[in-house]
Amino acid sequence: MSDGSFYLTTPIYYVNAAPHVGHAYTSIMADIIARHRRQRGEAVFFLTGTDEHGTKIAQSAEAAGRTPREHADALSQRFREMGEVLGISNDFFIRTTLPEHAVEAGRFLERMRDAGDIYRDSYGGWYCVASESFYPENEWGEGRTCPVHGTPLEWVEEENWFFRLSAFRERLLAFYDANPDFVLPRGRQNEARSMVEHGLEDLSISRAQLEWGITVPWDREQVIYVWIEALLNYWTALRFAGGEDRSGLWPAQLQLMAKDILKFHAVIWPAMLMSAGEEPPEQLFIHGYVLKGGERMSKTTGNIVDPFPFIEDYGLDAMRYYLAREIRFGEDGTFTHEGFVARYEGELANEFGNLLNRTVNMISRYRDGVVPADPGGDADFAAEVERIVAEVHGHFDVHDVTRASETAWALVRALNQLVEQRAPWKLAKDRDAAADLDQALYSLAEGLRVAAVILWPFMPGSCEALLGALGQDPDAVGVEATRMGAGRPGASVTEVPPLFPKIEVDA
Ligand code: MSP
Repeated sequence: MSDGSFYLTTPIYYVNAAPHVGHAYTSIMADIIARHRRQRGEAVFFLTGTDEHGTKIAQSAEAAGRTPREHADALSQRFREMGEVLGISNDFFIRTTLPEHAVEAGRFLERMRDAGDIYRDSYGGWYCVASESFYPENEWGEGRTCPVHGTPLEWVEEENWFFRLSAFRERLLAFYDANPDFVLPRGRQNEARSMVEHGLEDLSISRAQLEWGITVPWDREQVIYVWIEALLNYWTALRFAGGEDRSGLWPAQLQLMAKDILKFHAVIWPAMLMSAGEEPPEQLFIHGYVLKGGERMSKTTGNIVDPFPFIEDYGLDAMRYYLAREIRFGEDGTFTHEGFVARYEGELANEFGNLLNRTVNMISRYRDGVVPADPGGDADFAAEVERIVAEVHGHFDVHDVTRASETAWALVRALNQLVEQRAPWKLAKDRDAAADLDQALYSLAEGLRVAAVILWPFMPGSCEALLGALGQDPDAVGVEATRMGAGRPGASVTEVPPLFPKIEVDA
């Protein structure tokens, strides 16, 4: 276990094309988890970046009339900008074209070679450039096609360096047995296990006919197979990110990705680490695909949604919230314009944004804008809030981002009910009900503050604005702020424009 540090990664994205909602999805889910962990006082190190070598990139550069380096520079920049637009709080952005990565990846490979796990051989197989992967016959799609992209496989034959992956069968199976939660959801671990049980072939880890890559340290004629050095980014980055040696952060606590790259991460990656004498990561979380029109969103199939226009129209937090809530984390889910607008209007604008405006409005009208002190009569409600907070934490403990968002939303709903049940506008007309009105307004303001704290990882900007409107410190979002009564006493509220205004958008 870790000593309070939490090292979290996303896959590094290919720079063959611009980012789409599929990439945004992984980065946002990782960011929600990172922010939640920081709230709980963990020392998070959050890594993302770009995967820039290999045939796929070289070919897309050529098609764009650029050198691979120019192409990689331009597209890596797009991914970096995506992170900025999405509010991603990563601590470092790795590029596999960084010279430090090449040096460290080479060193790691030499450790595998010293361990006797690398040898030279010739190999021919059916390859998909989009996946940068060979596929054995039992994995082919119809008519010898790629099982992920559906495109025809190509015959590739070379003399290469090989990793003795087949020798890791027993060690991998023992590792899965000892760590039943290594891969979540658990069904994915069973998939990995059956890949290992069905037999592992040794893996070609270098390419002879390719220049766009990292040279094999002991063989200047070959470059390292792109997947091998890409996986190594998670380990190399710790040795140079920000000019510091953070190698003590290995093993990672959590690595996120979609199911298309399960085998690389749940089988090949732990075996590489075992070979080099390093520990496998503590946990992988495999999420589903963001679908559009029933199909996986992918540049290769041309089936993509650009996140940026949605963010321009509806704001970043609407996108973050929609993805977390709509697509059950771990399963496939469909992105639709109508679904997006429905959640924006029904949940964000009506249930959450309005709740703030009503709360501020009533406190302004009935109590001159000052949140009353707690009359101490709402113990049940405080207990309910405490239960919700604990449940949100429980969901985050197993990285269940979607259930965490649903549970946090239960507090928003409870607060809306509280408004309807207590009807402060009626209490305000009754002189004898002053204490009840104080209680209602206090519970509302304080409960809403807690809701903003537990929703902050999902919607940081809106929740900070909400805290500001309630006269609270927008930065007070740590776990200690989730307790009823932890807010600043006697705070003055401020009228603010709606957090999620009505949007008129042309269809
Ligand atoms: N470069 C490799 C990963 C190397 S990691 C050592 C790669 N890159 S990728 O650009 O294709 O991005 C893959 C990741 O992006 C997926 O694993 C997933 O995290 C995310 N997604 C890309 N499209 C997606 C969907 N349609 N749905 C969900 N996630 C998607 O593979």
